[in-house]
Amino acid sequence: MQSNLIYKRETNTSSQNPLDIASAMFESDMRAVNAIIIERMQSDVPLVSQLAAYLIAAGGKRIRPLMTLASTALLGGDMTRAHNLAACVEFIHTATLLHDDVVDESDERRGKATANIVFGNQASVLVGDFLFSRAFQMMVDDGSLPILKILSDASAIIAQGEVMQLSMMNNLDTNFDQYLAMIKAKTAALFAAACEVGPVIAGSSPDIQTAMAAYGLNMGIAFQIADDVLDYAATREKLGKTIGDDFREGKITAPILYALADANTEEKSFWLRTLGAREQNEGDLQKACEILQSHNALNKGLRLARDYAEAAVKALDILPPAPLRDLLCDIAQYAADRDY
Ligand code: IPE
Ligand code: IPE
Ligand code: MG
Ligand code: MG
Repeated sequence: MQSNLIYKRETNTSSQNPLDIASAMFESDMRAVNAIIIERMQSDVPLVSQLAAYLIAAGGKRIRPLMTLASTALLGGDMTRAHNLAACVEFIHTATLLHDDVVDESDERRGKATANIVFGNQASVLVGDFLFSRAFQMMVDDGSLPILKILSDASAIIAQGEVMQLSMMNNLDTNFDQYLAMIKAKTAALFAAACEVGPVIAGSSPDIQTAMAAYGLNMGIAFQIADDVLDYAATREKLGKTIGDDFREGKITAPILYALADANTEEKSFWLRTLGAREQNEGDLQKACEILQSHNALNKGLRLARDYAEAAVKALDILPPAPLRDLLCDIAQYAADRDY
């Protein structure tokens, strides 16, 4: 299947963001990916398909499978293989979301009640396991050991990242290096893998494979920092998730690290009570937002996300100029600057 690969950055003056442009450009490929997702989420056990369908039908940005499609197309790889592997990447992502919402006790995702609220924690964890396993079956179907290695390494790293996060929760001594190592693992590793699959399918040189992985990793870091800013700054309608989840749980994210670095004695005791001891009263989230604003912590987070997006763009320097390369650069910047 041939994708429509025309992308002119100069004409991108409409309200369309680069992610929407990529979705439109790869519309027929994404249709193929979605058909594979629907087909492969089926199970003889009705609850498995029912729960998977509940989350998958709610949509989501589908940014990771798009990255697999775009990187494969950019390097001239076989798009039929990319469809299967893009679906596989989205299954890994979906599995982590099911597990993550149980761990984070979240109640809203993609504008709907989370699966753990509707179906319970046990079913969510088990169907998450099913989706992980199904993803592995799909990698075996593809038959490439290097791809199996990339995606299985990423899966193990994501799980470790979520455990790292658990151990850092409520710990105000967390530093930036620890935070960055954690988000690299829980989020950026899958972006890196999603982008590295393309050059492997295309048989590109090791240099290009490394560059695409570096692009994905840096974009993934930017994406998670932006997510951590949006958890305080977005609206629930736009994000489709409850705002302030990170605060309620006592997650030490980039905005909090910036505010902690500048905190006076009163603010320190506020953070110790609310995030450290998780003793929270009505109005505390609002107060937290005010403190973050007063230290410019959300803007500092945004600036950090932009730095990583810039590093992602730089990683693509070794590729010859091409419209799709421009689009990938714009998507990286959008990962930092998005509002949902
Ligand atoms: C949510 O990912 C988990 C994070 C890494 C922040 P997305 O924001 O890509 O979620 P969907 O798939 O669009 O719902
Ligand atoms: C991302 O972290 C989780 C995974 C990569 C599984 P978050 O916990 O911040 O993601 P959201 O905010 O719930 O989507
Ligand atoms: Mg979460
Ligand atoms: Mg979040």
